Amino acid sequence: MQPQASTYGEQSFSKALPVNERFTPLRNLKDTWKKSIENPEEFWAQQAKQLDWIKEWDHVLEWDNNHARWFNGGLINVSYNCVDRHAKTSRKNKVAIIWEGEDGDRRGLTYHSLYREVNKIASALKELGIEKGNTVALYMPMVPELPIVMLACARIGAPFTQVYSGFSSGALAERVQHIDAKIIITSDGLWRRGKIIDLKGTVDKAIVDCPTVEKVIVLKRTGHPIHMEEGRDIWYDDALSLAKEKNITPESLPSDHILYVLYTSGTTAKPKGIQVGTGGYLTYITSTLKWAFDVDENDVWWCAADIGWVTGHSYIVFAPLALGLSLVMYEGAPEYPDPGRVWRIIEDYGVTKFYTSPTLLRLLMKYGDDYPKNYDLSTLKILGSVGEPINPEVWKWYYTVIGQERCPISDTWWQTETGGFMLSPAPGLELAPMKPGSATFPLPGVDPLIVDEDGKPVPQGVKGYLTIRRPWPGMLLTLFKDEERYQNYYWRKYPKAEQPLFYTGDYAIQDVDGYYWLLGRSDDVLKVAGHRLGTIELEDTLVSHQSVAESSVVGKSDEIKGEVPVGFVVLKNGYNPSKQLAEELKRHVRNIIGPIAALSNVYFVQGLPKTRSGKIMRRVIKALVEGESVGDTTTLEDKSSVDYIINALNNKPLNI
Ligand code: WTA
Repeated sequence: MQPQASTYGEQSFSKALPVNERFTPLRNLKDTWKKSIENPEEFWAQQAKQLDWIKEWDHVLEWDNNHARWFNGGLINVSYNCVDRHAKTSRKNKVAIIWEGEDGDRRGLTYHSLYREVNKIASALKELGIEKGNTVALYMPMVPELPIVMLACARIGAPFTQVYSGFSSGALAERVQHIDAKIIITSDGLWRRGKIIDLKGTVDKAIVDCPTVEKVIVLKRTGHPIHMEEGRDIWYDDALSLAKEKNITPESLPSDHILYVLYTSGTTAKPKGIQVGTGGYLTYITSTLKWAFDVDENDVWWCAADIGWVTGHSYIVFAPLALGLSLVMYEGAPEYPDPGRVWRIIEDYGVTKFYTSPTLLRLLMKYGDDYPKNYDLSTLKILGSVGEPINPEVWKWYYTVIGQERCPISDTWWQTETGGFMLSPAPGLELAPMKPGSATFPLPGVDPLIVDEDGKPVPQGVKGYLTIRRPWPGMLLTLFKDEERYQNYYWRKYPKAEQPLFYTGDYAIQDVDGYYWLLGRSDDVLKVAGHRLGTIELEDTLVSHQSVAESSVVGKSDEIKGEVPVGFVVLKNGYNPSKQLAEELKRHVRNIIGPIAALSNVYFVQGLPKTRSGKIMRRVIKALVEGESVGDTTTLEDKSSVDYIINALNNKPLNI
């Protein structure tokens, strides 16, 4: 199982691709990295000066009890940095957001018009009773109003949480309740593959369990009929007419003021509220965007993610706008109405830097080379990948067919918790030779360490757990309302280690040349089409169905999505396995969590493989699902449980 130093990194990836001269501003990656590690405070202070501060900090870093307080004493406003500082300069008429709807609608907003829109809704929110520190929940489609309301919340100091539109009412209600949102901002719906997804209907279902919500602001996007609750619901346009002030002064916020809380899956049933700060976060995401994508004034930046995930927060909205770029935002499905859509958008707007996920690339690669070849992709300069390990074949297709062997690929490894890129090629500093499938090296300020179970460093070439040794400005502040879990989950995994190590949950290996390779999750977290899902969340949802006694969910490899969840279910007495019940259980999970959690298969079994202490051995189930050897099963309580799984996978009917 453990690859050797001499073989790994050589076996299939020996041919490092040549550095392309055009994109190699030799500003020296290694020296910059060294400086950042030797003198982090000086290094990060210099980076932070690229932002506009209302008051400069007293201390660059206070590091105490696994909490990093960056730029303490400093006062700053994210909305000011993303909007005002451009709208008040010669960038005033520059296009900030180029938006395309799935139905072909198009909109462009200059920095000036963005300023106006942000101020209008910020004023309206104040009129509706939102003050600094009040929380707002967003359940919005990919339309310009989403960044606009995020920036409006940031302007008045109201922490927000955006809930991905692929989550349904149960998941939405859980998040709205946890953050105590006073207002939900949503839309009547969104377009997806030519169909309307009704967001307001989901809000109506969720809100029954959300007593803190006073108002629902509804943006008209699709125009289909929806229910508007008298006294509670208000159309977005009507809310705007409440705006009294033209210019809302951006709040002076402490550097560690909560900008947003983003819920993400972990290894328990409850999603974790990643609590993100202001000054350190903005410093980190702007610096990393420059390093990994060498962005400048002339770029047309397209991060083809959804703002429901961290990638969209950091690299669709906040970092590109803080840097004054022109960004592209697209509402719908990437292969709608045909698989040329993505390439057509690149051609139409002259995209220079394109950032997406391996899942999307695998999907588009399946349709062959003719689609991309029909479009002029010559404006592209740098390509990016995120969300899962990128398969070397996909990397090579991206490099040759899309980048036409001209564009470096920044394979960026990071997490919701890290706020921004951690490991990535850095063509904005110096481009080391790339290796297809490797996220290469840590960015400045990032100090990774691969360790064994005990937190001891493993030698190069040996697979281990990726950890981070020191704080960086983008890191989460804590888990919202759950400090204990923050400490336990991230900082107490390796009590025997020499120093506290930040736990990432990923396997990694460093090859003989020092390159990092990410090898997937080491815990019970799945990556389905790049989306993060907890198996325990899925299992709990299955068990909440009246027919289910016990369940286990594991990931099964999938050619396009990377992996898909499959469920194994033990029924309660009185229930019989049937196709209908399997479909019913799939529907149940979709209804409660959302379409993103759709199980690809539900198998009925007599029992699950467990240890003698009653712990489900997902490792064994996973091996069987993948057709691999189950390894050591001496701790199994009941050996026949392995046969139950094998029979189920072979579609042998249950005999209970
Ligand atoms: C995985 C997404 C390999 C990893 C930004 C991580 C990656 C999880 C890469 C975080 C990459 C992200 N190569 N794996 N370039 N980028 N991952 O929180 O398992 O949605 O822990 O943040 O995605 O997922 P999250």
